[in-house]
Amino acid sequence: MSKLSRRKFVEMAIALSATAAWGRPFGTRSKLPWRERHDIFPEGVASGDPDSNSVLLWTRRPPFNAHPAVKLRLEVAEDESFRQVVATAEAAIAEAADWTCRVLVGGLKPAKVYWYRFTDAEGNGSRVGRTITAPADDDPRPVHFAFISCQNANQGAQNAYRRMIFEDERAAEQDRLGFVLHLGDFIYEIVWYPEDRPQGMYDRRIRDIVRYEHGEKIRDFHIPTVVGDYRAIYRNYLHDPDLQDARARWPFVCMWDNHEFSWLGWQSLQKFEGVTHPRQSRKVAANQAFFEYQPGRFFKSSGPSLDEFNPPKVADTPITQFDDHGLGQEPNNLTALASLKGYRALRWGRNVELIITDQRSYRSEEPTDRKEAEPFSSDDFPEFLPQEAMEILDAGRAYNGGHAPASIRFGGAEIPNFRRDEPPQTVLGAEQKSWFLDRLRDSKATWKIWGNTLATLGMRADPQNLPPGYTKPWPGAGYAGFSGADASTAFAERGEIYDFVRDNGITGFATVAGDRHSFWAGLAAKSLPPKPFEPVGIAFVTGSISAPGLVEAFEHVFPKDHPMHLFFVGQGPADSSPQPMINLLLRHGVKSCLEYAKSGDLAKARAVSNPDLSPHVSFVDMSGHGYAIVSATSNAFESEFVCIPRPLERSQQPDGGPLRYRSKQRANLWAKGEAPKLEVKVVEGEAKFSL
Ligand SMILES: [Fe+2]
Repeated sequence: MSKLSRRKFVEMAIALSATAAWGRPFGTRSKLPWRERHDIFPEGVASGDPDSNSVLLWTRRPPFNAHPAVKLRLEVAEDESFRQVVATAEAAIAEAADWTCRVLVGGLKPAKVYWYRFTDAEGNGSRVGRTITAPADDDPRPVHFAFISCQNANQGAQNAYRRMIFEDERAAEQDRLGFVLHLGDFIYEIVWYPEDRPQGMYDRRIRDIVRYEHGEKIRDFHIPTVVGDYRAIYRNYLHDPDLQDARARWPFVCMWDNHEFSWLGWQSLQKFEGVTHPRQSRKVAANQAFFEYQPGRFFKSSGPSLDEFNPPKVADTPITQFDDHGLGQEPNNLTALASLKGYRALRWGRNVELIITDQRSYRSEEPTDRKEAEPFSSDDFPEFLPQEAMEILDAGRAYNGGHAPASIRFGGAEIPNFRRDEPPQTVLGAEQKSWFLDRLRDSKATWKIWGNTLATLGMRADPQNLPPGYTKPWPGAGYAGFSGADASTAFAERGEIYDFVRDNGITGFATVAGDRHSFWAGLAAKSLPPKPFEPVGIAFVTGSISAPGLVEAFEHVFPKDHPMHLFFVGQGPADSSPQPMINLLLRHGVKSCLEYAKSGDLAKARAVSNPDLSPHVSFVDMSGHGYAIVSATSNAFESEFVCIPRPLERSQQPDGGPLRYRSKQRANLWAKGEAPKLEVKVVEGEAKFSL
């Protein structure tokens, strides 16, 4: 869209509810007095969703000494010292948007770095931000970006950002990141106050980051209930120096996952202590705060209302009627969900189309989360669920070509199939899914990259291969899946998407995901042995920036005398501390874990790998934190996992502290009808349990 006309641009700005500015071809020196005042612009600056000629710019300027600003002056320059200012704009700022503002700047050149800053009438200025426009659609050069998720400022430090900045500053110009894709859990709305948990959380110290004025306390934690609470947590997260520096260095492309609204939330429902509550008003509040704090090309139902969200009025009303795609038909639910549409597609040159979907707002209820699914869990096998039952519950009435069984056998009992008359599970919802498939089919980019906040790579174990007598026999018929399901256990919908990719001859299909708090690299396939294994794409999951992962949790909560402890955080004879054995379990199976526990020899352990367990997984680390980088060229897709130690405290080092490892995954572009292949290399440090 590099030849977008000024008139079209203004229309787009209106649709996006942003003030618009238009770049000039020649820059002039800034004439504004500007003194950087961090105390007056405490949340810094940000940019978001660039295209090849425009980008959204953001700041917040709260009243200072009870003196509110009504307008800010924005300058965009080609140089850091603002001698070549190419665009200026006046940006309105108002309490109704919590003193945040968004400006869409157009008329910029493609694939170019710009600097920007905001100044109030007294000459008090924001910090200087740096942003980058996307390359033109026909630009063949490689695209580099980071994908990240899950930062928890209540329980950890954002050292990963410091490392990312350090490496990017030292990279050659052509290797620098073009943008950062944030796949959700930008905030954790669930907050512990330090006095609620003096013992901390796992290895973590609880930080006093926010006090919700209208919060609700559940057990020992607090959740936001009104827009003011959601705004407060965004503000406090943005006071983190490493996160704020990252937002000032790169354009961010953000999508919410669950914690931007609610931990166990879906549509506008919240679930706590096993009880589901209608929370239309909280969903609107969460959307409003997201809109105010994350500059992006979103569409809101309140229309082009300058820079304000103008929330629709909704009442918290029970949602009892669901359509054939699981969408709650209650009018307040539909209004709340429509208040902000997050799914969208963005283009970077010839090689990358990024198609971002929303996995929370339109999904149906997760079936294994329901009370009726409890009989499929067993204390003898914590975390495991029988995969055959998961598939039946997922597909509902569509199972086996419309012949869903009346009951499911588990451990000698016949458990009623409570999903027998219900529609198949959907994560995307009907409308979004059809948009997504259209975008996939129509994309002209080399790589069609699915930005999915949820992991798609299957996660399973083979307890059926435990030696007789080790513990009780596994009550399932075959493999075990894991509770806490994500996009990998929406088997029917994932299969439908992958079949579509295959049937339409789509190549270069790659998925990048977050949420799982672990690093995964592998192949996208709708089924695993003993069913056919036919990959149609490549898929990756990034470790969390800072939120605790499963291994850390298991180290603290998995009973040490439980026979299954070994498979999660057991250790070999020579190890002095627990090891991430779950990586071995997921990649190679129970026999490999038992061998390692006996001999401490990983080569021997891998030699007894179950080749049918995870042919789709090339790398898995359930204990890693950090970030992932993508380099997409006209013939290859390379991802890099940059793994750091558990980020318990902020590093004082300029590089953000040591690395645990750096791994590189590479796939050459495959031709129509050809299966993709992935190669993995650990190029720095050690990731011995991950391969
Ligand atoms: Fe998370």
